[in-house]
Amino acid sequence: MGQESKKVRINVNLFDIEGEKFVNKEFAITATNLTTVLDALIHIKETHDPELSFRYSCRMGICGSCAMVIDGKPRLACETLVTEMSSNLTVAPIMVQPTLKGLVTDFDDFFEKHKSVMPWLVRNDQKEKYDAKNLYPQTDIQRDTYLPFAECIKCGLCLDACPVENTNKDFVGPQALAQAYHYITDSRDQGKAVRLEKLDTLDGIWGCEFSGSCSKVCPKSVDPALAIQLLKSEVAKYRLSGSKK
Ligand code: FES
Repeated sequence: MGQESKKVRINVNLFDIEGEKFVNKEFAITATNLTTVLDALIHIKETHDPELSFRYSCRMGICGSCAMVIDGKPRLACETLVTEMSSNLTVAPIMVQPTLKGLVTDFDDFFEKHKSVMPWLVRNDQKEKYDAKNLYPQTDIQRDTYLPFAECIKCGLCLDACPVENTNKDFVGPQALAQAYHYITDSRDQGKAVRLEKLDTLDGIWGCEFSGSCSKVCPKSVDPALAIQLLKSEVAKYRLSGSKK
């Protein structure tokens, strides 16, 4: 691929902690067709504005740290090419979370919601973990049921895109619900009933209005919207089976 370069203007809407308000800063950079938005921000920090704050780590779409709103859409900065965006590129923090500084947002609420669905394998036998004699083989079909939902990198883009999350902060949100589905469909897990009881609420699965925007922005194609609909089905089956007891 050729290394054509061109001048690009980048408008960064960042939170100024001293002024306690959002300010807009415009920078001019030279971008090639391989320059990502993250590359551009690192360049701006190194050459224009050392105070510019943003999160990143892996630079390859794995850690989920560089989530931000680019040209009005939640995206990963390390996977977004500058030259594929508008000529008046805009960058802003993801807005569903409080902004701490610059483009850095507070993920505390996000991880509380994530933890609330018990995103781990729940086992009835608590002593089992000290006695690793058992094997838990899975068929390809059993593995493929949950694996697409296990790709989540916890970037928070789906929450930012969710219209319900943006109006009801108590809604557990698409990321946590997708992870609830991931674990209840893992054949090794025994926490299905506890999770379904907890999520059978208006702030749980029934809060979803199925706009589908969460799935559209997921950089790993996790499809939280599908997971939530499947969770509704699981709750219905669980309730029906419970009523027969
Ligand atoms: Fe890790 Fe972008 S820096 S996902």
